[in-house]
Amino acid sequence: MDFVVGAGGMRRSASHTSLSESDDFDLSRLLNKPRINVERQRSFDDRSLSDVSYSGHGGRGGAFDGMYSPGGGLRSLVGTPASSALHSFEPHPIVGDAWEALRRSLVFFRGQPLGTIAAFDHASEEVLNYDQVFVRDFVPSALAFLMNGEPEIVKHFLLKTLLLQGWEKKVDRFKLGEGAMPASFKVLHDSKKGVDTLHADFGESAIGRVAPVDSGFWWIILLRAYTKSTGDYTLAETPECQKGMRLILSLCLSEGFDTFPTLLCADGCCMIDRRMGVYGYPIEIQALFFMALRCALSMMKRDNEGEEFVEKIATRLHALSYHMRSYFWLDFQQLNDIYRYKTEEYSHTAVNKFNVIPDSIPDWLFDFMPCQGGFFIGNVSPARMDFRWFALGNMIAILSSLATPEQSTAIMDLIEERWEELIGEMPLKICYPAIENHEWRIVTGCDPKNTRWSYHNGGSWPVLLWLLTAACIKTGRPQIARRAIDLAERRLLKDGWPEYYDGKLGRYVGKQARKFQTWSIAGYLVAKMMLEDPSHLGMISLEEDKAMKPVLKRSASWTN
Ligand code: GLC
Repeated sequence: MDFVVGAGGMRRSASHTSLSESDDFDLSRLLNKPRINVERQRSFDDRSLSDVSYSGHGGRGGAFDGMYSPGGGLRSLVGTPASSALHSFEPHPIVGDAWEALRRSLVFFRGQPLGTIAAFDHASEEVLNYDQVFVRDFVPSALAFLMNGEPEIVKHFLLKTLLLQGWEKKVDRFKLGEGAMPASFKVLHDSKKGVDTLHADFGESAIGRVAPVDSGFWWIILLRAYTKSTGDYTLAETPECQKGMRLILSLCLSEGFDTFPTLLCADGCCMIDRRMGVYGYPIEIQALFFMALRCALSMMKRDNEGEEFVEKIATRLHALSYHMRSYFWLDFQQLNDIYRYKTEEYSHTAVNKFNVIPDSIPDWLFDFMPCQGGFFIGNVSPARMDFRWFALGNMIAILSSLATPEQSTAIMDLIEERWEELIGEMPLKICYPAIENHEWRIVTGCDPKNTRWSYHNGGSWPVLLWLLTAACIKTGRPQIARRAIDLAERRLLKDGWPEYYDGKLGRYVGKQARKFQTWSIAGYLVAKMMLEDPSHLGMISLEEDKAMKPVLKRSASWTN
């Protein structure tokens, strides 16, 4: 799918640029006024970030904190990070190296930065698709640039990927849904003709040919982050962005045969992008789905086309949060209840709704489950509960407030209680525990890259540090993030910013890990910047829906 951006395309993006130069941040414009909508917007937006904001951070204590980046406008994409200039603290020596490495990964399209490549690893003989801009990989890079007051690259990325969405997408003779966003894209430079072309992969070239369900969700989440960070509502308001959101959500909100509000997925359709038994209703996608729905709700115009979606989103959110909080949640009590379940119950009064056979509870779980703490398990479907821990889904559940404040606290408790297993020597495990032997053969199809405690199968991924840090700040436990960042700082630069680490404790640089993996670099920078200035949290966090909100409790271990 090659895509030459002709004059039309350029004209269109030029008109967006002029729109974004407007300084009008009036929220009511986005809401088209009607009072009822304002109320709804309020209840879903994260106005009360001040609930978790810190005192003593340079007078940025207002409720709309996080909307205005330090520096604000255009900044050169080379040179000193604004964060070190703006704060009086002494940055860790590896921060400078990280910024340099991040800027080296920039990809330009017609002279303008458009994204960052997945890995800048010249030593590796096999490039595969690591020289592409992945949508999910770009998110931490985008957040780093936003936090550093460089929003232009993010805007450019959002607009160009939107154009890619508009392409007719075909795999063999089958046409993909209109709303599908690419997993990745590449810029091809033709120096003779002087044109840049884009080549996008919607899953048809990906290993396993899976369409990335997460790309569209990340796109919506990033659009909101951009809007919160810059205060520039005009981008989200454009008919193009509104349509882009509607197309993404149309793929998920259409009626089918489902009896659950969760989204049915193929294996490998998210960050874990190869066969790992993450199919059906994986937490990794459900949490992102929930977050994307909430972000879309806060940005969707209440016009003729938008209104219908707003209704659908609100209804789905209601059902989804109930389902996830009730059936995916596992703590000591719940485990004990499942352990005692009766099976073969018929009718709507069944306690064991999904007919889970207690014998299917894996042995490791009985020891792993602390008395205090809990988490959203990997998957729930008929007679199948995947009890594995998945980091991304649980962190996103906290950030999106899919988890109640009590559940969020319990997830952080679990991380503290099971530090060795989930964090070890390198934060943090993508999932826990690893699958081995016969199970590995059946579940992964004998995947040599996903052997036990490696890569997606219990490997440790530094990129997840930004999600952990954000969740720590949101739950009032910054000391957990500090501890994790300390661990990462001991190794990351020395090891050349690997993609992942292997082993039960995450002690070894991953078997096939790329070096200078961009999201490892950006993830670290975002974690650092958020800890320095927690008001950045507002970009990627949503407060509990006020209608259901119990008071946010601060943990006793809060140290700030
Ligand atoms: C691997 C990861 C995937 C990532 C890609 C590029 O395939 O599994 O999540 O997007 O590399 O870094």
